[in-house]
Amino acid sequence: MSAGRSLEVRDVAKAFRARGSRGVSVQALRGVSLRVEPGEAVGLVGASGSGKTTLALLVLAAQRPSRGSIFFGETRVERLRGRALRAYRRDVQYVFQDPYAALNPLHTVAYALARPLANLRGLPDRDLPQEAAALLERVGLGPAEQFLPKLPHQLSGGQRQRVVIARALASRPKLLVADEPVSMLDVSLRAEILALLKDLQTSEGLSMLYITHDLLSARVATSRLVVLERGLVVEEGPTVHVLQHPQHPYTRRLIDAVPKLTSGGDVDGVSGGQRAAPGGRTEGGEEPGAGGAGA
Ligand SMILES: Nc1ncnc2c1ncn2[C@@H]1O[C@H](COP(=O)(O)OP(=O)(O)OP(=O)(O)O)[C@@H](O)[C@H]1O
Ligand SMILES: [Mg+2]
Repeated sequence: MSAGRSLEVRDVAKAFRARGSRGVSVQALRGVSLRVEPGEAVGLVGASGSGKTTLALLVLAAQRPSRGSIFFGETRVERLRGRALRAYRRDVQYVFQDPYAALNPLHTVAYALARPLANLRGLPDRDLPQEAAALLERVGLGPAEQFLPKLPHQLSGGQRQRVVIARALASRPKLLVADEPVSMLDVSLRAEILALLKDLQTSEGLSMLYITHDLLSARVATSRLVVLERGLVVEEGPTVHVLQHPQHPYTRRLIDAVPKLTSGGDVDGVSGGQRAAPGGRTEGGEEPGAGGAGA
């Protein structure tokens, strides 16, 4: 296994100019610091609008912070350009919430996987079918020959999200940023996809930044939690500890909002509402990760 690198977000702020109102800005992040150690799964939780996706886009180098810096090992993420940026996008991949928007409807599964295998891993054409099949098997879509020729509309939501995860794995990333990866899936599928993410994270030694407003899924997927309220970290600690002994009133409110956070290990009813797609609001036409659903 390759030597791990930690993700370190240092005092990051991000302001957006509010649309139509000259000079007025929205402070999406107001000085956030957090770390994800190699092989660690950290949950970033907070209510809608707390700045979670904004932080994800900064980590993915799809946007740049207004202040502060982001390190991945020695790499200063917000300064990356050109070849170094492409290398970063091999190492840091993403899964967003909407598996329908993530895949190009005109591309087969084989093509969706072949692109990052060729472009990011530099594999020759002759190796692509076999590698794509291996990725599918890895995410529980087998036999692969059945899925490779399919178009996204021929797959269920859960199967699509598995393809999206397979695509994210194609470049052999070290860090996965998962922004509400199960919130648009049917309740019955959420536990399965979470279990897959957890399994990949531990078996491949992947680090993961798992973003959610759903504390129940964070309990399953992560070992440490960072709680974000209106662009500020208000609490952090081991997941179990934060959930059992929340210190901050905001964390308590988030926990109270969960229908039933039972003490059993049961994850069947992993909650999470239907939500709007993040809608690629990246700056300057940059795409977060070259594995994305481009034309
Ligand atoms: N491109 C943008 N332009 C203007 N404001 C923005 C932009 N992106 C985010 N914001 C604002 O920044 C704040 C944080 O948004 P963000 O999407 O990061 O929240 P979130 O925690 O991901 O919410 P949700 O749980 O609903 O996905 C919100 O007030 C949002 O309206
Ligand atoms: Mg979001």
